Amino acid sequence: MPQPLDSLIKPLRAQDLARVAALEARTFGPGRFARTAYRVREGGHDLSSASRVAWLGEALIASVRMTEITIGGLPGALLLGPLVVAAEQAGRGLGRRLVEAALDAAREVGATLVVLVGDRSYYGPLGFASLSPGRIALPGPVDPARLLVAELAPGAAERYSGLVQARRTRGFDRAISAA
Ligand SMILES: CC(C)(COP(=O)(O)OP(=O)(O)OC[C@H]1O[C@@H](n2cnc3c(N)ncnc32)[C@H](O)[C@@H]1OP(=O)(O)O)[C@@H](O)C(=O)NCCC(=O)NCCS
Repeated sequence: MPQPLDSLIKPLRAQDLARVAALEARTFGPGRFARTAYRVREGGHDLSSASRVAWLGEALIASVRMTEITIGGLPGALLLGPLVVAAEQAGRGLGRRLVEAALDAAREVGATLVVLVGDRSYYGPLGFASLSPGRIALPGPVDPARLLVAELAPGAAERYSGLVQARRTRGFDRAISAA
């Protein structure tokens, strides 16, 4: 019988980062460095402890990075991405469970907003919605229809406007060092 998905999901540890990077490289190829989440984190920024991975035995089969950000200088938000599921494990609900686990963890670390760039059809049922165009800007061009946020506190999105930047100083969270 297949294992329940939740039992596969664990917090990301610093020692998993090389395997996460390898899974991302296999999935996205060299073009990954142009992705928004990479651009925001340019310079190898620390990751939030809300980041999650999934293991099947010794194999790391999925990952979602969470990065503490400021928006217009205001802290309290996280950027979700990249989300990646190994091709041979796709379509069994792991991606969605990983996002749900990361959102639960984001709430626990005290984040009030989670931002991502992705497909509304995938992330909408997980609690993500579009913002009014121009409210939040990311480094580099982003299709406004793909800029999505999940509020973890009522009205949180209203508090934020401006440029998304990786938080450079230690924030509210116990960070995982990318070094
Ligand atoms: C996209 C991805 C994370 C989905 O993971 P997954 O574990 O296969 O997803 P789930 O099993 O939770 O969900 C599967 C459902 O999502 C749909 N889906 C997959 N990718 C989608 C996309 N880009 N847009 C909309 N829906 C998508 C599938 O059609 C399926 O729909 P169904 O439930 O109606 O059959 C995974 O396929 C992947 O790693 N892809 C390459 C990397 C990528 O594009 N990451 C997302 C951007 S960072």
